[in-house]
Amino acid sequence: MATVLAIETSCDETSVAIVRDREVLSNIVSSQIKLHQQYGGVVPELASRQHLETVNWVLDAALQQAKLDWHAIDGVAATCAPGLVGALLVGVTAGKTLAMLHQKPFLGVHHLEGHIYASYLSEPDLQPPFLCLLVSGGHTSLIHVKDCGHYETLGQTRDDAAGEAFDKVARLLDLGYPGGPVIDRLAKAGNPAAFALPEGKISLPEGGYHPYDSSFSGLKTAVLRLTQTVSPTALSVPDLAASFQAAVAKALTKRTIACALDNGLKTIAVGGGVAANSGLRHHLQSAAEEHGLRVLFPPLKFCTDNAAMIACAAAEHLDRGHVSPLTLGVQSRLSLGAVMDLYNEAS
Ligand code: KG4
Ligand code: ZN
Repeated sequence: MATVLAIETSCDETSVAIVRDREVLSNIVSSQIKLHQQYGGVVPELASRQHLETVNWVLDAALQQAKLDWHAIDGVAATCAPGLVGALLVGVTAGKTLAMLHQKPFLGVHHLEGHIYASYLSEPDLQPPFLCLLVSGGHTSLIHVKDCGHYETLGQTRDDAAGEAFDKVARLLDLGYPGGPVIDRLAKAGNPAAFALPEGKISLPEGGYHPYDSSFSGLKTAVLRLTQTVSPTALSVPDLAASFQAAVAKALTKRTIACALDNGLKTIAVGGGVAANSGLRHHLQSAAEEHGLRVLFPPLKFCTDNAAMIACAAAEHLDRGHVSPLTLGVQSRLSLGAVMDLYNEAS
């Protein structure tokens, strides 16, 4: 059972955590949301600078919270892809430096593998195979989790990620950033059937529709059109928020259930910031019950970006003898199928 200290700086959260196997000993998250809010979205250069200023005290706080010193740490990990290159570089450089200084193995971790491992933190007995619905600000994927490091992406968005759609629609309605939580709150007071919005199906060249892929950009355009064509007095923002949220929740639920049933996967683990959405939780939970499937929503602190999920993934890799070379770089994009390219076998 490896004890790993991990650093996550792929986007706008600076986080350091220490995890032993699947037990979180500390998890400190410093969010940059306030910094980026004034610009309506994440500004990459500001994110990198803020990570640089924050990472040292977050690291100290994580060691203190876990009440551990470096003798107890078996390895150091950092998110190395995908994400904002400048932001990733801060965490990876800090991780490699600490690994060299304290003579520990270093592991680069794929951010999406971290989101998959978030489910293990709250469900220590969970074992592959299962289906992961990953819905965040940058990704919307249906992933067949086969084993540590072995994943098959069965479905994805062809354009905007689900969280991105929430953020863009919130911007259209002047609701601020990030859009998900505020739309979720407004939707509670609205009528989800007030506006008919498209489901975002992807047509196939041979006819019919892709069973698991989705598109959210048409949905965003439909909301834009409503704001341009319906008079402001007739356009209830809570109704629009509720209709938009229901459209996203239904589209994701339909594809997820079909994917689980077609592939014989009885458990669905949801991850990423949009897993917090009450509409998605409600629709997916009841559809899963109807089909005899188990659905797991990790607590919110493990759904949004955090280093505990990165440490959890790294701990399992380390247990299997996987370590990364200190020459490992960062990458803005990397498919989940390439996870094992990040590791050499330990010598
Ligand atoms: O996983 P995450 O923290 O960061 C990324 O890796 O992207 O996800 C952030 C995204 C944002 O787009 C935010 O609007 C969305 O998750 N989000 C929500 C909710 N809370 C956060 N979307 C819908 N409903 C929510 N309650
Ligand atoms: Zn993320």
